[in-house]
Amino acid sequence: MVSLNVNSIGIIGGGPGGLASLYEFLNTAKDGTSTVGTGTRPTEPAFTKLVVFEQKDAAGGIWGRNGKDADLAVPPQSVLDTQKYGDPFVVKPTNALPDGIESSSRDNPVVTGKDTLQNELEWKRSGVYPFLFTNIPARFTRFSYQPDEEKYHDKSRAIYPFLYHQELEQRFSDFIEREQLAQYIRTNTTVENILKNSQGKWVVSARYKNPESGSNEWYQEEFDALVVANGHYTVPYIPELPGLAEYNAKNPDVLVHAKSFRDIEDYRDKDVLIVGGSISTANIVQYIIPVAKSVTNAKRGKSLVFEFINDALVVPEIDAKGTIDHFDTESGEVHFSDGTHKKFDKIIFTTGYHYHYPFATEYLQLVNPGNLSRVKGLYYDTFYQNDPTLGTVGIAVSHLNFHTIEASAAALAGVWSGAKELPTQQEQELWEKGFVKAKGDSIFFHFYSHHDAGDQFVDKLYAYAPKERYNPLKVEGPLVGEVDEGLEKLAELYYLIKDQKLTIKDTSLPVEA
Ligand SMILES: Cc1cc2nc3c(=O)[nH]c(=O)nc-3n(C[C@H](O)[C@H](O)[C@H](O)COP(=O)(O)OP(=O)(O)OC[C@H]3O[C@@H](n4cnc5c(N)ncnc54)[C@H](O)[C@@H]3O)c2cc1C
Ligand SMILES: NC(=O)c1ccc[n+]([C@@H]2O[C@H](COP(=O)([O-])OP(=O)(O)OC[C@H]3O[C@@H](n4cnc5c(N)ncnc54)[C@H](OP(=O)(O)O)[C@@H]3O)[C@@H](O)[C@H]2O)c1
Repeated sequence: MVSLNVNSIGIIGGGPGGLASLYEFLNTAKDGTSTVGTGTRPTEPAFTKLVVFEQKDAAGGIWGRNGKDADLAVPPQSVLDTQKYGDPFVVKPTNALPDGIESSSRDNPVVTGKDTLQNELEWKRSGVYPFLFTNIPARFTRFSYQPDEEKYHDKSRAIYPFLYHQELEQRFSDFIEREQLAQYIRTNTTVENILKNSQGKWVVSARYKNPESGSNEWYQEEFDALVVANGHYTVPYIPELPGLAEYNAKNPDVLVHAKSFRDIEDYRDKDVLIVGGSISTANIVQYIIPVAKSVTNAKRGKSLVFEFINDALVVPEIDAKGTIDHFDTESGEVHFSDGTHKKFDKIIFTTGYHYHYPFATEYLQLVNPGNLSRVKGLYYDTFYQNDPTLGTVGIAVSHLNFHTIEASAAALAGVWSGAKELPTQQEQELWEKGFVKAKGDSIFFHFYSHHDAGDQFVDKLYAYAPKERYNPLKVEGPLVGEVDEGLEKLAELYYLIKDQKLTIKDTSLPVEA
């Protein structure tokens, strides 16, 4: 067996993916066995140094401590003078490393001043708005080793079987506290570059943004292996539509991406256009319909993931259009493919997000950048085929995304501890080719329905998990039908909210008197 000699691991991102990786590594022993779920840690751990780099001021990813603060609605032309919103490297550029970083360390960083452009295009804030509840039942919105609290199975809850986002945030802060994870997490620290050096070590270039001074402290640090767990719902995708940039320059307060949707009052008595046809669209439109003067929807195809949306967007309150043809900058009107045109007070892009790796351009690359892109060169969305000491967690798209994350983390722990061995690179490449043929060369390559996620993803990666590690879907697997019931409930809630039978107050976390 080929030994990878992994002792130190850097984890990029402190969201659910990064935390699951950290927990899995902490529970892996030198002999390749696992203590996951036992409440104990190995006496002889497999890995001696674990560091999580998190760019925000708290861990938890999009479920971290969330305020009302939002990212830029869309980048104003004054900040980003471009037509190329569809290019992730334009919307979130790679930052150049400062001179002298090669001889820096955490104790002896290169200090640079504040950089406003960099701040505005960091996209660090969460897309979670104050009244968001989850769209997957509480039982599945957790890792298998997190408690499945009885109180969330109470059918009298207005949003049963879902969680208020604050409850999911609490799950993660409890997890961090119970497992004493904070000591491994470096907050306010962005990974700006990774590189494998000639000695076979991964060199991470990190930037600590000092919250007191606002200055940037850059340093390099070496690791034997790296996990990329930076999420793929942080950098907004805005389509490149004719006239959009000029329209944005002339009408700076009209456009907003779903990520920055926050206050329903911004839409009261307004003519609103919502672009997109997926879950963010349905989710936001249910709250807009009761307050807006008019609602128009421009969409392309059908939602293949949430089927109820295809009917939910064809209701009398919505003027359903095809796609946008162009923005007329003279008249300020939007022209649609059916020849009609109209002026809007607010235009919301619910057009999705980018996979984006501005710090790993040499390693992680996309096919067809945009909201439908695919990440190339990975084995089961987890192992970088050219170098198995680079791992990725959180790339799969599924209603069971907590369990797919757990499976990837477990497989990395199994292979990096030496308990299991991957197939040859050639076999991995053949697998990718076959999968592209079967599922397509787009984001659908990464998509697993909740009925397929067990057999086609979790079980496959489980083959690489540490010894004595249980299958992440051992308990929840047979209960996956609850996700279907959840989808029915989600549709029911859509109509109740849209028809004002339930208000935002009814579906938000009750505030104690
Ligand atoms: C509005 C919205 C609602 C959602 N609702 C649900 C739901 O109901 N149920 C569900 O199962 N899923 C939902 N999701 C999907 C959600 O993304 C996952 O639940 C989960 O957060 C994925 O975890 P992650 O760690 O992969 O990504 P994230 O949660 O995005 O965490 C990634 C972390 O990496 C950090 N990071 C990124 N780049 C760097 C860098 N260069 N250096 C350092 N740190 C970095 C980020 O700051 C972030 O904290 C939703 C997503 C969105 C956008
Ligand atoms: N908990 C919650 O309630 C909640 C709420 C919101 C989001 N989320 C989560 O957030 C994640 C992202 O979901 P999302 O809905 O934001 O993104 P998404 O699933 O990627 O959907 C993007 C939508 O935009 C459309 N689109 C892209 N370009 C377009 C164009 N030029 N014209 C018209 N339509 C265009 C896409 O259509 P095509 O299909 O034709 O490309 C698709 O309908 C998911 O994981 C979801 O579960 C959860």
